[in-house]
Amino acid sequence: MGVEAGPQKASAPAKCILFGEHAVVYGEPAVAVALEQRLHVQLRPSKTWSVGGSPLHPDRHPHIVALKTALLDDSIPPMSIHISSDIPRASGLGSSAALSAAVGRAFAALTQQQDFTNEALSTLAHQAEAQAQGGLASPLDTSTSTEGGIVVLSDKKEEFCTWLYTRTLAVPTGERVWEVHSLDLKRDDDIYLVLGNTGIHAPTSAQVALVASALEESPERMQEIKAMGTISRRGLDALKRGDYTAVGHAMSENHVLLRNLGVSSYELEDLIQAALPTSLGVKLTGAGGGGCMVALTRQPKETAEAIELAGGRTLVSRIGNAGAGTD
Ligand code: PMV
Repeated sequence: MGVEAGPQKASAPAKCILFGEHAVVYGEPAVAVALEQRLHVQLRPSKTWSVGGSPLHPDRHPHIVALKTALLDDSIPPMSIHISSDIPRASGLGSSAALSAAVGRAFAALTQQQDFTNEALSTLAHQAEAQAQGGLASPLDTSTSTEGGIVVLSDKKEEFCTWLYTRTLAVPTGERVWEVHSLDLKRDDDIYLVLGNTGIHAPTSAQVALVASALEESPERMQEIKAMGTISRRGLDALKRGDYTAVGHAMSENHVLLRNLGVSSYELEDLIQAALPTSLGVKLTGAGGGGCMVALTRQPKETAEAIELAGGRTLVSRIGNAGAGTD
């Protein structure tokens, strides 16, 4: 394996789910977009492997250790890994997926693996994510951070999207299969996403388990999951047309179903209420219970101010940004 001289730099974006969180776990379509906020990594030859000055350790850095095992052999000298990021951690914005995508890109560049495709990167990043989350993770975060733009996941090939690849994951009950697509954006420069962070961390695995037990108790509630799938498709169609008023309506409808399912929180509801008057649509984004909400708006300043007055920390981004790459 040849080694590229000098520091190796790469970065990857945060992601935000516009439609279909939780329902995607049951095969319904979901749509996520790459945000402007990025995580940057820099590798420098060193005496020992380290991350931010601490020794590289499988318990503390499971994603990086998994990628190192998959991509590097013993001919690679130790590296110190420096991470800088404007993605808040554990807030539903995909900071761990961005770490995997950026480190994977940097490792591949380090060893001059020019033929290292996005599919290979997102597969490795997804496996690292699933391993770190105790076995189960959908590839939504890792595919979006790798590919950038707008990513659509479904259990079947979706019309009018560009099909990219099939991702599978072995789980105790068999195999899960997702079809991964990208969607070409009809860009509207007046449209913004404002993310409002509650600052509360609710682990994704606990939120996913909460939905699973609600469905076990009342199997008829699968209708609500199916309804989320219908809304995701409606939102996706609106995105394709560039009809952001309809995109906003679908987001707000999606939120009503998420709230009824029990994955919102008082803090999220406060930020959502504050953002509503200046937004086209508002919902929680990601696993819920805490973390972030997202508002689609043409008035980012007013929306961000309203969310901050209600106690949230905000980030502003356009829709669909570059995926993982070397810097
Ligand atoms: O980890 P988060 O907060 O970005 O949310 C994950 C989205 C879920 O649909 C709840 C889980 C999954 O694996 O897709």
